[in-house]
Amino acid sequence: MRELSLHILDIVQNSISAGATLIEIDIQEDVASDLLGIDIKDNGRGMSSETLKTVSDPFVTTRTTRKVGLGLSLLKSAAELCGGQMNISSTLGKGTEVKVTFIYSHIDRVPLGDMSETLLTLVMCNPHIDFIYRHAVNKSEFWFDTREIKQMIEGVEINNTEVVSWMRQYLNEQIKSLYGGVL
Ligand SMILES: Nc1ncnc2c1ncn2[C@@H]1O[C@H](COP(=O)(O)OP(=O)(O)O)[C@@H](O)[C@H]1O
Ligand SMILES: [Mg+2]
Repeated sequence: MRELSLHILDIVQNSISAGATLIEIDIQEDVASDLLGIDIKDNGRGMSSETLKTVSDPFVTTRTTRKVGLGLSLLKSAAELCGGQMNISSTLGKGTEVKVTFIYSHIDRVPLGDMSETLLTLVMCNPHIDFIYRHAVNKSEFWFDTREIKQMIEGVEINNTEVVSWMRQYLNEQIKSLYGGVL
């Protein structure tokens, strides 16, 4: 995929399919250690140890509509192509965590993409799921939690047009400032 944000969208989709009510997306960009890390954690139904063992194999899926599962295996290949790796931990009934790393400066590492729009899409399409987004760039850090937003807007739907445009502006500003405003 051309942007890491598309992988993120795809991996979060697994969490949604697994019935998660809280999904945490954590991005770390660190030039000093030359690493980009993405962690996606959910409280969905989790996987059995049998599924977990085979899950990054493209020919394994519990889907009934198509025989191959691609999301995790594609992400794993992308990471390994960039000198990184993917690790998944999962407990049945508790949840799943997918952790992936990339060498930051690797020539084949695709850009992160538009995390602000990715997050907004997720929040708008899944107003009843809560998302925690953490993004660190070197020593700057940003944190966004839909549970806090929902408290602030007191009963107004989180996908209300005005709330969405406020969140868009807020996310764009905050993420931009992580990069020292140079993005
Ligand atoms: N967060 C998750 N929670 C529970 N099961 C998961 C999760 N992510 C992946 N899985 C399991 O791993 C399988 C493979 O996932 P993936 O590679 O994205 O392919 P697909 O979604 O097309 O099946 C899924 O079908 C599902 O059974
Ligand atoms: Mg999938």
